[in-house]
Amino acid sequence: MPAELLFSGVKPTSTPHLGNYIGALKQWVELQHRYRSIFCIVDLHAITVPQDPKQMLERTLEIAATYLAIGLDPKRNIIFIQSEVHEHAELGWILGTLVKMSELERMTQYKDKAKAKGENVGAGLFNYPSLMAADILLYDTTAVPVGEDQMQHVELTRTIARRFNTTFGETFVVPQSLVQKVGARIMSLQDPTKKMSKSDESALATIMLNDAPDVIRKKISRAVTDSGTGISYDAIEHPAISNLLTIFHHATGKPIKEIEDEFAGKGYAEFKQALAEAVVEMLTPIQNKLNEFKQDPGELMKVLDEGRDKAQEIAAAKLKIVKERVGLGRV
Ligand code: AMP
Ligand code: TRP
Repeated sequence: MPAELLFSGVKPTSTPHLGNYIGALKQWVELQHRYRSIFCIVDLHAITVPQDPKQMLERTLEIAATYLAIGLDPKRNIIFIQSEVHEHAELGWILGTLVKMSELERMTQYKDKAKAKGENVGAGLFNYPSLMAADILLYDTTAVPVGEDQMQHVELTRTIARRFNTTFGETFVVPQSLVQKVGARIMSLQDPTKKMSKSDESALATIMLNDAPDVIRKKISRAVTDSGTGISYDAIEHPAISNLLTIFHHATGKPIKEIEDEFAGKGYAEFKQALAEAVVEMLTPIQNKLNEFKQDPGELMKVLDEGRDKAQEIAAAKLKIVKERVGLGRV
């Protein structure tokens, strides 16, 4: 049995927001102590929808800096940019010859995005799961921490791995997804029935990780609340307050019950003020680190160079085996 290995990635399609942080990145910081981990900035996935080239590279580096700023340790983990390890694209192609059209057609992420664009989307968006499978399978990954929306892709990765193993001989480890419980869905501050998202029409709906303290205070003070009073958790009856309580819990580490007790009989204004300060306190150290990396990118570049080299060593060895099994190239 290979040792447990964790692989995950974020697409550099926008500046990360509080939903990304609480829903995904914050868990990685805890998981890095339990697994050997590889964290990738999946830029080849980002270009499955049109991107501005200059912004693409800026965001790629911003996500990489965010990985370090939140506390992912480059000494324990491999941190790298997907497109710098060409083996991903190469294995993605090979796996794309094994996955069925009918399987790709069932992917809800593709269906949603294709429908939104009237089916006028690039073929890369359709074949996206082959590349994601390559990311995961190149490293003998056992665990893939993802949001609920990505479970279907990990399931298809398992199918592809098994199909390859049956066709060409035991080659890939079949990975499992790892989905967390509380905070898997942080909702919009303006509409608690919608996920907090980078593309919300209302700028007040989403807290970006690099929002200044006063912007954070303003967004939280204007957050919608439920009719009636009382600060108690009930995701069905009081979805707005429940979302704010979830954020409070993640910002302070306090159990939700303790927060409810602390604010029993107090008004929304007082609660929101305390929440805003807690979020500012959680994000300030991250923002300070991000600014350091912006002013002096040397360390970040070194981490990414080393990460690329380490990832490539593993990926190249795996791809060599794959190509031999499939009968590609001279041995
Ligand atoms: P995306 O920005 O959609 O590529 O998402 C990057 C990661 O953040 C994925 O693991 C998502 O599941 C997670 N994520 C995005 N939005 C939210 C949200 N509102 N609440 C919790 N997790 C989220
Ligand atoms: N598809 C994932 C998302 O949209 C990003 C991703 C690409 C990924 N490759 C991966 C996540 C491999 C985990 C493992 O969020």
